[in-house]
Amino acid sequence: MNAHSSCAPSDVGPIGTTFPLLALTEIKKGFGEGEGRVQALDGITLHIQSGEFCALSGPSGSGKSTLLNILGLLDQADSGSYFFDGQTLKGASEKTVRSLRQKHFGFVFQSFNLVQTLSAVENVEMALFHAPMKAGVKRKQASEMLDLVGLGERLNHRPNQLSGGQQQRVAVARALVRQPRLVFADEPTANLDAASAFGLMDLMDDMRRQIGTSFITSTHDNRLMDRFSRIISLEDGRILP
Ligand SMILES: Nc1ncnc2c1ncn2[C@@H]1O[C@H](COP(=O)(O)OP(=O)(O)OP(=O)(O)O)[C@@H](O)[C@H]1O
Ligand SMILES: [Mg+2]
Repeated sequence: MNAHSSCAPSDVGPIGTTFPLLALTEIKKGFGEGEGRVQALDGITLHIQSGEFCALSGPSGSGKSTLLNILGLLDQADSGSYFFDGQTLKGASEKTVRSLRQKHFGFVFQSFNLVQTLSAVENVEMALFHAPMKAGVKRKQASEMLDLVGLGERLNHRPNQLSGGQQQRVAVARALVRQPRLVFADEPTANLDAASAFGLMDLMDDMRRQIGTSFITSTHDNRLMDRFSRIISLEDGRILP
């Protein structure tokens, strides 16, 4: 990003109005070459506002994970524009992109991705690794976040001593401990039973209200759809109207 970067287009006015937190325009992403090439995203234009609780839905292969990876700056589009807080990332260095991702984004994955040899509180603390604060403060913040997700009594349990739902709560605490502006969750309920899945949705919605974080969650789970403030439906790499 630089000081002269352009502003997000369309429905955002120049004075006195806020930009969307994230804006994508005409994003395309393909994989492979020649006849085997797959157009995973085929012109995605999308605005995400602060505090939204969005579902990305669509059949397997429709492009949900690809879109989440691009939204979360884990992968790059082939073409199109990406704006964060009204600023383009066109020409931004890798370092700028990485620091934006570390500062503002959190991630929750289907398979939890916890470090098995570390306790719950150490897993959450890992997200504060680069944060400029003393070890005691990191421990305190990680413990408080685990308390907030209902695991205050499980700080020293390792992942294999926790249920799937509890492990996913640790993953949510890890994603939230730096108080990111956005959390991207790829099928976070896929390995959970119905009660844990609903519990996780309630937890994310509570966190959204308490911390003001926006959530963008890909899901196949039709039971959960009425929990979201907005549903973005994908098919063949395009957003359905
Ligand atoms: N790294 C990759 N290499 C090649 N093709 C890929 C790669 N990643 C995704 N694709 C292809 O891009 C398309 C979109 O995949 P994506 O993983 O985004 O779908 P999805 O909607 O997340 O599916 P699912 O619900 O099964 O997770 C698919 O056709 C997939 O095969
Ligand atoms: Mg996927």
